[in-house]
Amino acid sequence: MTAERSGADLDWWYPVAAAQALRDAPLGVEWMGEAIVLWRDAGGVPVAFTDRCPHRGARLSLGRVHGGLLECAYHGWRFDPAGRCVAVPAVPASTPPAGHCAEHWRVQDAHGLLWVGAAGAPDTAPHAPPSFVGLPSREVVCGPYDVATSAPRVVENFLDTAHFGFVHEGFLGERSQTAVPDYTVQADASGRPGVPAYRAWQPRSSSAAVAGGWVDYRYQVLGPSSALLVKQAEGDGTTEAYALWVCPLSHESCRVWFTLFTSDTVRGADELRAFQDLIFSQDRPILESQRPRRLPSVQDERHGAADRLSVAYRRWLQAAGVTWGLAEF
Ligand code: FES
Ligand SMILES: [Fe+2]
Repeated sequence: MTAERSGADLDWWYPVAAAQALRDAPLGVEWMGEAIVLWRDAGGVPVAFTDRCPHRGARLSLGRVHGGLLECAYHGWRFDPAGRCVAVPAVPASTPPAGHCAEHWRVQDAHGLLWVGAAGAPDTAPHAPPSFVGLPSREVVCGPYDVATSAPRVVENFLDTAHFGFVHEGFLGERSQTAVPDYTVQADASGRPGVPAYRAWQPRSSSAAVAGGWVDYRYQVLGPSSALLVKQAEGDGTTEAYALWVCPLSHESCRVWFTLFTSDTVRGADELRAFQDLIFSQDRPILESQRPRRLPSVQDERHGAADRLSVAYRRWLQAAGVTWGLAEF
């Protein structure tokens, strides 16, 4: 599987787990066909290794964290946060050679998620976990949602407003107002497509909304499997934003989170999550029904004028050299 990742796929950082899901025990996760183990060192700093012991290939996520070291469940080899083996219990007097090391990945904690980066992934925009200016400071992580489709299918669904009146009737749209207004796709400084201004009438745009109203939208593709939506409700002017983060598990399966940025200080995180759970439960059966699961090239599906952002996203993926989750381009 590893050989199928292109260099461009590995240029990007990817979220692999909610930060809160990683506590005292090691946590096994999946990422682009690779099993990864996450654990926290003595200072609580997250660490990521390939989930395979260099001794006999056992899953390190079956082990335990003890004294700031990760101990393999099979023969008890212990690894420090840099991946070095520091103890071989069967030969207690030995000093393990440098080659006895676990494969180490870089980790960052951002927006409530833990992100993994390959050795060569840049630490700067656009490849690193993004930082945002001007969004509400309260962050609520929603998910994970496991979906049997490719990551780019999920991103494209997030960028698609023409389905609101059908899939999210009564919430994000309704059948009497299905026209997608004209909009302009603009690339940002890194070439990533977005829509700077867009309007939609929504019956119930958030868990706080009690009546329908006009909502101003702004979309921005952030990476191969992430995008941002900023919503501003007319009237009270409330700003809310959703960042979509998709971790590609395999080419045809993925794990999804949203970080909700909200100024709502009244509703609890569970209530805010329940709204997003409901919206995504409406998307999921459609997403899992799409064939092929891998995102086709532009010429292999038919498009309307409302699909300009999706088409721009597909073209950008192709230009960026990304291959994971895509049908042959
Ligand atoms: S397989 Fe991990 S210590 Fe032997
Ligand atoms: Fe949707």
